[in-house]
Amino acid sequence: MILGIETSCDETAAALVTHDGVVRANVVASQAELHSRYGGVVPEVASRRHLELAAPVLAETFERAKATLNDIDTVAVTHGPGLIGALLVGLSAAKALAWSRRLPLVPVDHLHGHVASLYLQPDPLEPPFLCLLASGGHTLLLDVRDHAGYEVVGSTLDDAAGEAFDKGARLLGLGYPGGAALDRAARDGDPEAYSFPVATVPGFDFSFSGLKTALLYAVRDLPAGELERRRADLAASYQRAIVRALVERTRAAAAELGAKRIAVVGGVAANSELRGALADAALAPLALCTDNAAMIASAARFTEPLPFPQYLALDAYATAA
Ligand code: KG4
Ligand code: ZN
Repeated sequence: MILGIETSCDETAAALVTHDGVVRANVVASQAELHSRYGGVVPEVASRRHLELAAPVLAETFERAKATLNDIDTVAVTHGPGLIGALLVGLSAAKALAWSRRLPLVPVDHLHGHVASLYLQPDPLEPPFLCLLASGGHTLLLDVRDHAGYEVVGSTLDDAAGEAFDKGARLLGLGYPGGAALDRAARDGDPEAYSFPVATVPGFDFSFSGLKTALLYAVRDLPAGELERRRADLAASYQRAIVRALVERTRAAAAELGAKRIAVVGGVAANSELRGALADAALAPLALCTDNAAMIASAARFTEPLPFPQYLALDAYATAA
């Protein structure tokens, strides 16, 4: 089996996945509550928490799979992009484990990991497809031709879609991280109550920063005490604007590139309205949308491993070059 480790942001995660893509255990310890009081992830706090959580999360992963270190032949770990201190905790743990067992190590790009969430059993997707990757840190359109990688055909010029959800949720007093909370609040609201325009930029790129400002003004212009009453409508209308932007751009790109299949991955792929609007697409399973290590182990199946002990000098990177 492949042991996957993921610590790029505020989830400490480990997973055991077989070489043919069966998830035997997938453990995610979210630090969201720890960071919520700050309204966002504090990098140094995240690193320290990863340090505390790494060993217990790994132990629980093996326990759930009823496995031991003897059952793994490969270690896979996210080495970027992400918070550098957070990444280094997972990378160091992975190196230590791989080195102690003389195992090969596979460095995995976090974004490739999100795409590889589609390659797991019981319903693995076969390339080619056009992939919308929408998370807290990225909004990308990827032309996926094979399991090993992809070509970026579009990206956001400013905020990521998940960031737009999180900032919107914050403006509406829904806490952090707000994507899922905004999704829930929107269910009781009228998506046509407010008209939030989304910038159309040339090509296959996205832009969400204007939308956030529009919501800011709408909230600011409310009479005192009205936010409570209008929150669901604001959430529903705001969500509608983000989803519409994502769906329209993705469908336009698919048509222009002649892509026969659309897939959606990343934390925002958990959004109920987006899932409804792209019901004909291949959607990452809900449990694998937000950060996890099963997707990292999955990506490792299609990435060249570094033999022992070559990987000891391996470094993490914050952003893709
Ligand atoms: O993929 P992910 O776990 O982390 C990154 O790689 O960034 O994505 C996290 C993002 C957050 O912005 C979160 O608010 C958003 O995904 N998210 C959602 C939902 N669940 C998580 N956004 C909208 N609707 C949801 N149900
Ligand atoms: Zn992610």
